[in-house]
Amino acid sequence: MARAVAPRRTSRDDIPVARRTRAGRRSGAGAGGGGGAALLLSCGLVFSGALAAVLFGPSLLARLSAPSSVVEGIVEQPSGDGRLLGHFPYPEVPVVDRVGVEAGIELHKDAAEAFRALQQAAAADGVDLRLLSGYRSHALQKGIFFDVKSARNQTASERAKVSAPPGYSEHSTGFAVDVGDGDDPGTNLSQSFESTRAFRWLQDHAASYHFTLSFPDGNAQGVSYEPWHWRFEGSSEALREFEPARRLAQGS
Ligand code: DAL
Ligand code: ZN
Repeated sequence: MARAVAPRRTSRDDIPVARRTRAGRRSGAGAGGGGGAALLLSCGLVFSGALAAVLFGPSLLARLSAPSSVVEGIVEQPSGDGRLLGHFPYPEVPVVDRVGVEAGIELHKDAAEAFRALQQAAAADGVDLRLLSGYRSHALQKGIFFDVKSARNQTASERAKVSAPPGYSEHSTGFAVDVGDGDDPGTNLSQSFESTRAFRWLQDHAASYHFTLSFPDGNAQGVSYEPWHWRFEGSSEALREFEPARRLAQGS
């Protein structure tokens, strides 16, 4: 899984002082000749730089000197723990591990099995759990993030309060589900879902099926409260993928 890696220390500070400079020739014609050549070279470099600025304009120079963004279209950089705008990075579940659960909705096979069991147990209690969203490719997440951001005239950090940038959504793992109440579809993907029977049932029973609420009210990631979004943590693979998020939530 992509994680933030401390920048490689390649600066001159890594080189012991004694090795930074080579002994120069201090006297004789050779020293003067070397100085002249260096002067000529410096003038050449300055002239080439000025010529490039005139020919290619300031945009090229700005691009060459700007730090490259991790996600195209987002200037913010990941923090030390790898999070971008509050969200941890997640890989896409391989196609061989994906299974269809509802029309057009796939999950990781382990999450799919657990979700079906969860749904059946809820149905036995008279609660109609509906799967609204599951696996999303990075490409799909890119559209969800940027298209809505544009339609709502939002900054990246405003958009990230409710949607993960591409490469940073739990949905890409195939372990995350958005759940609705079939008896109260007006609450789908809304904070009003917390007042449904489905949500109360999930609070009481989801942990038995290894589902946990990813973004509770006031979560440490700074993501908006999402009572409908649950993630599966019932396999060693899922536990590993969500360990950074779990640690942050637990404050450890
Ligand atoms: N809505 C959640 C944060 C996501 O986009 O993954
Ligand atoms: Zn979700």
